[in-house]
Amino acid sequence: MQRRLLDVQGLNVSFPSGQETTVAVKDVNLQMQPGETLAIVGESGSGKSTLALSILKLTHKPSSVQALRMMFDGTDLLHLPERGMQKLRGKDISMVFQDPKTAFHPMMPLGKQLLEALPQGRRREKRQRALEMLSRVGLPDAERQMHAYPHTLSGGMLQRVMIAMALLNQPKLLIADEPTTALDVTVQAGIIRLFARLKRQFQMGMLFISHDLGVVAQLADNVAVMRQGQIVEYGSVERILQHPVHPYTRHLLQMAPRLGGTLPMIGGR
Ligand SMILES: Nc1ncnc2c1ncn2[C@@H]1O[C@H](COP(=O)(O)OP(=O)(O)OP(=O)(O)O)[C@@H](O)[C@H]1O
Ligand SMILES: [Mg+2]
Repeated sequence: MQRRLLDVQGLNVSFPSGQETTVAVKDVNLQMQPGETLAIVGESGSGKSTLALSILKLTHKPSSVQALRMMFDGTDLLHLPERGMQKLRGKDISMVFQDPKTAFHPMMPLGKQLLEALPQGRRREKRQRALEMLSRVGLPDAERQMHAYPHTLSGGMLQRVMIAMALLNQPKLLIADEPTTALDVTVQAGIIRLFARLKRQFQMGMLFISHDLGVVAQLADNVAVMRQGQIVEYGSVERILQHPVHPYTRHLLQMAPRLGGTLPMIGGR
């Protein structure tokens, strides 16, 4: 049997605050095969980001993360010390966030930030690799943009740079947390198409977080529907879209404007 890319079982994440404790993720189980795109869908506050951050062990402190099992490509993340996690982050697992403006240092040219994401090596080769990746994500005039500061690029273009940065080390798993939510609708469509293309080209696993089932329909192989910290429905994208069982999934389907009751495209096919 092929080794699983990700295997999470019995994951619980909570945030203690004074007398109260918020349980953000409750008894979650997830499995991903290499190259699979798994979408996590749910409304605001359902625990999607907390789930993603807990895989990278980056939940905000104070938080308690407990699980029965958390394996990534044969590595036991639960027992991996922080130093080991640091080696993994940005290399084997990388992440693209919602708002590209907050992801870059405002006072540093983009090229320099891209080069810093690469491991040691010759500057010329690193530069070449960064340029190549920028053109693969469809950034026009990549050579000039290497010298640009983040604020001079539009949100959509900056998101392309963040995606390029996340892909520089050819991760086995890319986590994208609502990567199009901060963008205009027309720009969103372009970024979704880009993800669909990159998924095919790089053969990487993708954990794609969204509140919009319409977006997910175009990318995902499997879908986990989250509500109040729990996965209430989990299955192939075809099954979830065509035969949703849980009332909350049906509700999300009704909320997805682009689906409009029909299924124009499933899983990018
Ligand atoms: N650092 C924190 N401290 C305390 N509570 C937190 C913290 N981060 C998240 N939470 C709580 O955990 C729950 C899940 O939040 P989370 O951000 O994971 O949801 P989400 O599904 O990503 O929402 P959104 O779609 O708005 O990004 C919420 O109730 C939130 O208030
Ligand atoms: Mg979130």
